[in-house]
Amino acid sequence: MRYSRTLTSLSLLVVSAAEDFTKHVDVFMGTQNGGNDFPGVARPFGMVKLGPDLLQSGTDSYSGYLSNGAFSGFSMMHEQGTGGAPKYGTVSQLPLVGNISDPLSNITVSRKVADEGSIGYYKAQTGDGVEVELSASARAGIYRYNFPSGSQGNVLVDVSHVLPSFRGQGLGQNYMGGDLLILADGHYEGSGVYDNGWNEAPDWTIYFCGYFNSSATSNKTYSATGAAKSVEQPSGFVSSSSGSTRVGGLFSFSDSEVISRVGISWISTKQACDNVNSEIPAGTSFESVVDGAVSDWNTEVLSKIVTTNTNDTSLSLLYTSLYFMHLIPTNQTGENPGWTSSEPYYQDIFTFWDLFRCSTSLMQILQPTAYEEQIRSLIDIWRFDGYLPDARSSNYNGRTQGGSNADNVLADAYVKGVRGAVNWEDGYKAMVKDAEVTPPNYPVDPMAPDSSTHEGRGALPDWLSLGYITPTFTRAVSRAVEYAYNDFGLYQVASGLGKDDDARKYLNRSRNWRNHWNPDQTSLGFSGFVVPRNSTGFINVDTLNAGGYWMDPYYEASAWAYSFADVHDMQEMIKMMGGTETVLNRLNTMFTEGASGSSGTIFDPTNEPMFNLPYLYHFIDRQDLSVSQSRKVAKSDYSTGVTGLPGNSDAGAMQTWLLWNMIGLYPITGQTTFLIHSPWFESMTIDLGDGKTLHITSTGGDGNGDTNIYVQSLKVNGQAWERNWLTWDDVFAKGGTLEFELGPTAVNWTSGELPPSPASE
Ligand SMILES: *[C@@H]1O[C@H](CO)[C@@H](O)[C@H](O)[C@H]1NC(C)=O
Ligand SMILES: *[C@@H]1O[C@H](CO)[C@@H](O)[C@H](O)[C@H]1NC(C)=O
Ligand SMILES: *[C@@H]1O[C@H](CO)[C@@H](O)[C@H](O)[C@H]1NC(C)=O
Ligand SMILES: *[C@@H]1O[C@H](CO)[C@@H](O)[C@H](O)[C@H]1NC(C)=O
Ligand SMILES: *[C@@H]1O[C@H](CO)[C@@H](O)[C@H](O)[C@H]1NC(C)=O
Ligand SMILES: *[C@@H]1O[C@H](CO)[C@@H](O)[C@H](O)[C@H]1NC(C)=O
Ligand SMILES: *[C@@H]1O[C@H](CO)[C@@H](O)[C@H](O)[C@H]1NC(C)=O
Ligand SMILES: *[C@@H]1O[C@H](CO)[C@@H](O)[C@H](O)[C@H]1NC(C)=O
Ligand SMILES: *[C@@H]1O[C@H](CO)[C@@H](O)[C@H](O)[C@H]1NC(C)=O
Repeated sequence: MRYSRTLTSLSLLVVSAAEDFTKHVDVFMGTQNGGNDFPGVARPFGMVKLGPDLLQSGTDSYSGYLSNGAFSGFSMMHEQGTGGAPKYGTVSQLPLVGNISDPLSNITVSRKVADEGSIGYYKAQTGDGVEVELSASARAGIYRYNFPSGSQGNVLVDVSHVLPSFRGQGLGQNYMGGDLLILADGHYEGSGVYDNGWNEAPDWTIYFCGYFNSSATSNKTYSATGAAKSVEQPSGFVSSSSGSTRVGGLFSFSDSEVISRVGISWISTKQACDNVNSEIPAGTSFESVVDGAVSDWNTEVLSKIVTTNTNDTSLSLLYTSLYFMHLIPTNQTGENPGWTSSEPYYQDIFTFWDLFRCSTSLMQILQPTAYEEQIRSLIDIWRFDGYLPDARSSNYNGRTQGGSNADNVLADAYVKGVRGAVNWEDGYKAMVKDAEVTPPNYPVDPMAPDSSTHEGRGALPDWLSLGYITPTFTRAVSRAVEYAYNDFGLYQVASGLGKDDDARKYLNRSRNWRNHWNPDQTSLGFSGFVVPRNSTGFINVDTLNAGGYWMDPYYEASAWAYSFADVHDMQEMIKMMGGTETVLNRLNTMFTEGASGSSGTIFDPTNEPMFNLPYLYHFIDRQDLSVSQSRKVAKSDYSTGVTGLPGNSDAGAMQTWLLWNMIGLYPITGQTTFLIHSPWFESMTIDLGDGKTLHITSTGGDGNGDTNIYVQSLKVNGQAWERNWLTWDDVFAKGGTLEFELGPTAVNWTSGELPPSPASE
């Protein structure tokens, strides 16, 4: 059931008169089955992501939410759709009923009915009859509690609260100390210190400031050491500088309806109070915070794409996907505890390894202003922290799974004209640091002790001296193919900045993925794969099953996947694979059920390394097969509903893959190229900012992309078009139009040049 909003002012009436796209967003879509979407409340790029934290022993709760389990809190900080191990779940409140004798005993309360939610609104009911409603601004949140009448209602503030991890990988977060002060007017302030989580971060501190709208009948602070009973502390203050002593407070109320407003800050309790008092001042109605969220999402995000389509399923997939790609990174400008700078500051990237393939390029198109800020922030992080980040979270650069993929992101932004206040000389210096300076291997990652996973390129010594990576380094093959892609990014920016010697050098280096190519490695009748090697020679692998984890030669995908990774060198790759016909068969094999001898396909829709694969038919002039394979993935592996995502959303990466499928284009990151496949809708208009639009129409299709999906003809900006790709300048730089004619059968509508393969000349 959806929350119905009350219009409270004329300005809201004006906004509400425009179309409300939020009705198409299902905040529970992709929350289950590994999707890990965050269903709680947030603003676009908001620092606060307020939602429930469910505890079920043995199950990691990545975004706080589980459909089962018991509530351990409702906390202000979460990630969107990540995997690995949970991060945050910090700054929490938990409503309790009756006399609470031992508040810091890890209390959980059961759930009475399934939670409800819509953009900017969340509602849960606890087993002891408390109704909890949530909404949020960018840096503050609002809780509305309805306690059962006649019983004492309490709000527990347990500073030690984090999302735990049960996976036993040593990646669980730890509470490391904190403090809580109750002031004379009844509000509370404090801070908590935490460490670890998926990115193995060192201690970080978050400050908070909370108010209640009614006065408590009692307010007490407590500490608890180990498993001992909570001890009440005098004078409304409690503090611990170690994780062994937990601290918190309990506020009791006789009123049944209580509102709490809480601000957070990475800087100070004063700034946490300023954040809540400026964004949600005392007396703000709960409804107006919800209305503000709805209005922000409509204006800043959802209205960026409009379509004439009226099919609920399609609209839900479109607008829900747009929603989930805008929860992180977090705009933390003015909230950087690390250094003082006039540059914007964004973090919670989590991770570029997921996002560089097709997500950051869509972010640029939909959010040019925010994207320019994000690029400047990346460069500022290099300026003050020494390296560009990959999975920066809690203001810590780690953790790097493959290459230094921020290089790909910067290259993509550079070639597509992101300028504004970006200092590209500095941006290039940051990339050169990645390409030339091995990061110190400290702190050592127990899951990959050979070299740094904190930042930069840990396996650089081999890459620089040998042009390949030996098994001295973990993930040697997958890192090598990504380092080559990164070096291609340096080539692009060096070329643009007129650094011709560097350009030549890095273009050359971008070909070194070929050094891992063993032409004699065979699998399922195909020969030629990227494999591990040392100075003696190639090392034999199980090409289908060698895909592994941190310690293995290939990270999270097999030799089949990584052999197709270096798309800047596609024509050489095609040659090395044995030519067009063989590549056609090889791609087809990856999409054939059972081809590997076990069930399913070699193509794996659940993870990012294979995002590009369904579109690679373009490079062998089979645009029609890119259309059919990618559409099959989009329509069979994605759906509406709680299990709608094939794998972890990963900061919205999965959702952006689906959005590109709807749009009918697919980006090649680091180049200006977009592969043209086939759009779902009869009409879609993308707002490019500055009054520019990309208008995409199709005739002859079914309007939802289910049948009649093949392109019969295309006009770009009114002109007949025969290439199967276009560039940024063609339709994005100044806007443009794409007019597709679709039909039920494939025809050879393309002729002429294939998509560029700049490293292959
Ligand atoms: C709760 O505690 C108060 C004060 O200690 C006591 O008077 C009251 O009887 C208790 N109520 C219950 C239900 O235990
Ligand atoms: C606090 O807010 C709730 C919800 O709006 C309201 O019902 C209650 O009366 C308020 N309490 C006070 C003391 O104003
Ligand atoms: C609560 O959890 C913490 C952290 O896991 C643990 O150290 C402590 O012993 C627990 N307390 C109780 C009463 O179980
Ligand atoms: C709440 O705490 C403050 C400061 O610790 C104190 O001045 C105030 O009287 C307390 N209120 C109640 C109802 O206990
Ligand atoms: C709406 O779209 C879905 C998914 O593409 C399709 O299965 C369904 O038939 C469509 N409904 C109508 C009424 O066209
Ligand atoms: C990011 O936050 C800063 C500080 O609040 C703000 O000035 C800036 O406009 C925000 N950026 C976007 C794209 O909203
Ligand atoms: C390119 O790489 C090859 C092999 O690593 C090397 O011999 C050659 O000097 C390089 N050329 C340039 C221009 O760096
Ligand atoms: C290279 O790897 C092979 C296979 O593991 C091994 O037999 C050989 O000794 C290695 N060579 C060097 C120089 O380490
Ligand atoms: C297009 O032409 C190629 C050969 O140039 C052929 O192999 C392919 O089957 C044709 N595709 C269609 C859809 O007719």
